[in-house]
Amino acid sequence: MREMYLALDFPEWEEARAFIDTHDLYGVPVKVGMELFYREGPLLIEKLKEDGHPIFLDLKLHDIPTTVMKAMKNIARLDVDMVTVHALGGSEMIRKAKEGLMAGSVSDSPKLIAVTMLTSADAKVMNHELRISGDVGNHAAHLAALAHQSGADGAVCSVGEVQKIKKACGLSFLAVTPGIRLKGDSVDDQKRPSTPGNARANGADVLVLGRAVRNAPNPSAAYNKVIEEWNDGNV
Ligand code: C5P
Repeated sequence: MREMYLALDFPEWEEARAFIDTHDLYGVPVKVGMELFYREGPLLIEKLKEDGHPIFLDLKLHDIPTTVMKAMKNIARLDVDMVTVHALGGSEMIRKAKEGLMAGSVSDSPKLIAVTMLTSADAKVMNHELRISGDVGNHAAHLAALAHQSGADGAVCSVGEVQKIKKACGLSFLAVTPGIRLKGDSVDDQKRPSTPGNARANGADVLVLGRAVRNAPNPSAAYNKVIEEWNDGNV
C-alpha cells in the first residue's frame, strides 16, 4: 500500500478550504486532527466527502475501554478511511475500539491505527519524563505488536521504526509515518523526522504530510515533490 494524507492542521474550515483551493489540492486525501475537528465537528467530514477527499480522522482516542468503544461506534458512522487510538491505552482498549468500529460501520469498517510513541517524543521524554526505560524504537515496536495482537490494522510510528514493526507484525500491518520533511526543511517539534524517499525505502505504507507542505513557499510544488519522491520518481 502507498498512500499519502495531507494534514489539515488549521484552526477552522474556511482556512483549510482556502488552502486547498489556493494550492490546487482539491480532492487529495486529507488527515483531520483534533484542532479542526473540535472546531467544526462531524459536519466537516460531510463537507470534505462531498468534495471527494478520502479522510483519515486522527483523534487519537485514549480513555477507558467502554468509553473508547462507544466513541468509536459514533466515529464509524462518519464512514472515514482510517481512525486512531493510543496504543498506550492497552490491549483491552484497542480491542474495544475495534469492536465499536465494527458495530457502528455503515460500509467497510475504517482501519484502526494505533499511535505508538509520538514522533515528537525522543529518549529524553520517554526515559526521563514518562519513566519508560529502553530504546524508543524497541518500545514503539512493542506497542505496535500489542496493537496488532489486539486487532489494530496498523500503527503510527517514525520511519526509523517501520522495519522493526513489519518484522514483529507482518508486512500487511500498516506503517503510518508522520514527521515527513523534504531535504532542507525545518523539523519543527518532530524529533524523529524523515524524507519521503527514506519512508519508501523503509517500507512505510502511509505518509502523513503536514508542515512540509503547509509551510512551504510553494505548497503545491512541495506536495508534488513529495509525491514524486514517495513514488520513486513517478508523479
Ligand atoms: O507538520 P507535521 O508534518 O509535523 O505534522 C504531523 C501531523 O501528524 C500532525 O497532524 C500530527 O498530529 C500528526 N502526528 C504526529 N505524530 C504522531 C501521530 C500523528 O506528528 N505520532
